Amino acid sequence: MCGIFAYLGSVKASAKIIAGLQKLEYRGYDSAGIAMIDSQGKLQLAKSVGYVSKLKKILESRKNANYRLAIGHTRWATHGQVNRRNAHPHLDCSRQIAVVHNGVIENFQELKTQLIRQGHRFRSSTDSEVIGHLIEEFLNQGLPFAAAFRRALQSLVGAWAVATISSRRPNTLWLGRFSSPLAIGLADKEVYASSDARAFPGKVKKIIFLEDGQLAKINLGQKQKIAVFNLDGRRIKHQPIGKKSIGKINLSRGKFDHFMLKEIFEQPAAIARALSGRVDFKKRSIVLGGLETIKGEIKKKKFLGLVACGTSYHAAMIGRLFASGGLGMPSWLANSSDYGPLDIDAYTLGRSSVFYVSQSGETADTLAGLKLIEKHSKALNLGIVNVVGSSLARRVKAGVYTRAGVEIGVAASKTFLNQIMAIILAEAYIGQLQRHPISGRSFFSGLKTLDKKIAVSLKKSPAIRKMTRRLTNVDSFMFLGRHLAYPLALEGALKLKEIAYKFSYGSPLGELKHGPLALVDRNNVAVITIFRKDPDWRKSISNIQEIIARKGRVIVVSDLDRREIPAQVESAISFPRLNSLWLAPFVAAPILQLFAYHLANHLGREIDKPRYLAKSVTVI
Ligand code: G6P
Repeated sequence: MCGIFAYLGSVKASAKIIAGLQKLEYRGYDSAGIAMIDSQGKLQLAKSVGYVSKLKKILESRKNANYRLAIGHTRWATHGQVNRRNAHPHLDCSRQIAVVHNGVIENFQELKTQLIRQGHRFRSSTDSEVIGHLIEEFLNQGLPFAAAFRRALQSLVGAWAVATISSRRPNTLWLGRFSSPLAIGLADKEVYASSDARAFPGKVKKIIFLEDGQLAKINLGQKQKIAVFNLDGRRIKHQPIGKKSIGKINLSRGKFDHFMLKEIFEQPAAIARALSGRVDFKKRSIVLGGLETIKGEIKKKKFLGLVACGTSYHAAMIGRLFASGGLGMPSWLANSSDYGPLDIDAYTLGRSSVFYVSQSGETADTLAGLKLIEKHSKALNLGIVNVVGSSLARRVKAGVYTRAGVEIGVAASKTFLNQIMAIILAEAYIGQLQRHPISGRSFFSGLKTLDKKIAVSLKKSPAIRKMTRRLTNVDSFMFLGRHLAYPLALEGALKLKEIAYKFSYGSPLGELKHGPLALVDRNNVAVITIFRKDPDWRKSISNIQEIIARKGRVIVVSDLDRREIPAQVESAISFPRLNSLWLAPFVAAPILQLFAYHLANHLGREIDKPRYLAKSVTVI
């Protein structure tokens, strides 16, 4: 949520910033801006509303500009409308200090009122603008720049990642972090900073991840000088780590029209990666190096907890059913976006292994859940994370990476499937340790060919494209499924909201007669039912009949033969029949992703960058 990219080096800084910001656009794309120090040591500014490509055009028109130091920002608006004035960077009154910020400053109103009283003039309605004025105020009071920067950040309550440059110190880049991510990338005679280390160019070989409450002062003379401090000014030893294990954002879509479609089609390979080396098919057991080192601690914990939000929550819902229904393990689930002190049950927490499930590993809600649980219990905190080296991955004791690869489309697709897989494997591993092994051969034999079965579901893409063309005028969609298909119904509905901007609602299928049935309306509503041929399939068919009896439009997503489905349904899309019920979500979810994708595409939506949304939500 908001992307920061900064550069200090010897060649055109503006081009470096644009390349970096384009990779960070998944974090927000309301507006973009850059501040640079020119060869005379003056501060220059460029901003535009909309995508980074617009900012790029503006900069291209400024020929021969040569800047060594620059900070850039791509915005997801929190405070203040989307307009040029509210675009970052923000300046102080003297226009000598430029600041980009990611996060939310909760006490900005008090700070702003005080600064206005002290004579500062504000130009924007953002919370972020207070930072530059605070630095200016402390400079006015006679503090040196480093101390003024530190005091300014000390004054902030909330979440912040900040990059600052100033014509008063034309060779220095100032950085700070609390709750929002910020990494420093080291290359030969160049230093980069980014909200996401995966946006660094290939020449960056070492990375320093700033931790909460750390600031950095970076100079480039004959040698790189990087000093990292605590908020109280104490110098901290920093140990750069190698960049090898951290993925790279690649902005090529190949033959696909959208990243989302590319990522949907990458799912067979992504699932194969998630499984690689983690299953011993002979012994029918799970091998997870990430958890092996702490298996003694895991064994002692009686409960298994899952904490997540958004799509990750839907993956965790499936994980929760697998823990109880598949392994017979006591488990609990919490939605991190609505998790607070009232949910704290110290007895259970203290006896729990808790998995925080997050694609980005930076989601403020999920990190806040972790911090709360850390504070109130002795839970064993573990991660199910896609982004290697992310804040969550660094903070938990151990975990399992989902290995989905970089996902650029804002709406999650391949990361969802890989999260389900990583959770299931982690739980099955814990089940093994605690003598709750997964029963049945079909699970292991099913894993062997799962990638191929997912590919069969993806073959339905042309049929789904054709079918969704008829649905563009429908106002509302209901996604219904029971048991394991309920989280899928929620995920199908979420995908459609996110990228097609259609009102969509997910519900347990059995709940239909308790209310949602009243919404059935031939002209404005379509009902998507999701189920497999399990012992309850006839109940699902009866529910469909109830909708048909009210002239509702029904689309069936199932592994049934067409003749088993009432003839009156509008369409039926099938997924392969698998013997293990736990593997059905992997072949059903791609159908729902393609449903949302094609419908959104018919409607001409910005699929990879849906309005108002961002992929990594670093504010609460
Ligand atoms: C945002 C994204 C969703 C994602 C959710 C949780 O809302 O747009 O796609 O599911 O955050 O993100 P996480 O990175 O924690 O999985």
